[in-house]
Amino acid sequence: MNSYLWIKLIHIISATVLFGTGMGTAFFMLKAYLSKNEEAFSLTTRNVVMADWMFTTPAVIIQLATGLWLTAKLNIDFESSWFMAVIGLFVLVGFCWVPVVWIQVRIRDLMANGAKRDDYRGLMRAWIALGIPAFCSVLVIFYLMVSKAGAYD
Ligand code: HEM
Repeated sequence: MNSYLWIKLIHIISATVLFGTGMGTAFFMLKAYLSKNEEAFSLTTRNVVMADWMFTTPAVIIQLATGLWLTAKLNIDFESSWFMAVIGLFVLVGFCWVPVVWIQVRIRDLMANGAKRDDYRGLMRAWIALGIPAFCSVLVIFYLMVSKAGAYD
């Protein structure tokens, strides 16, 4: 395989880690919250915070770096509607994800200090509200990646 395909392979694996870890941690954290079992929720939140540092953060950096490289190699104009949409959605996901990471760390620390459900219910509502546009945006990015709609207009 040539260097282009190796970078594309890394890009696709990183996309898998980004979307897969995001879906997985969101599912387990939501299930633990809905279980009303505070010990389980506290442990799950600690692991979700760790997963975001170990998997999601590196994947976000690799996604952007390999994506920019692939875009340049394919001579896709950085002013094309495709690129504007991809970067716009990528930044939107970032604006949702950063507060989500903050909320998870906040809940982890609250739980460590004996917080009760009323202390973090509002935070969890915000966590859910931020998660929906983030996941929808990643699905649209997947569509743009495969369709390349507007890349060469
Ligand atoms: C959440 C973010 C992203 C996901 C999930 C994602 C996913 C993917 C996937 C699955 C492919 C393979 C598509 C195919 O083979 O037809 C791909 C290709 C590509 N991605 Fe991304 N990507 C993301 C972000 C980005 C960003 C931010 C850029 C640009 C800055 C980018 C640029 C590209 C390019 C140029 C290709 C085409 C490679 C080719 O067809 O040879 N991606 N991406």
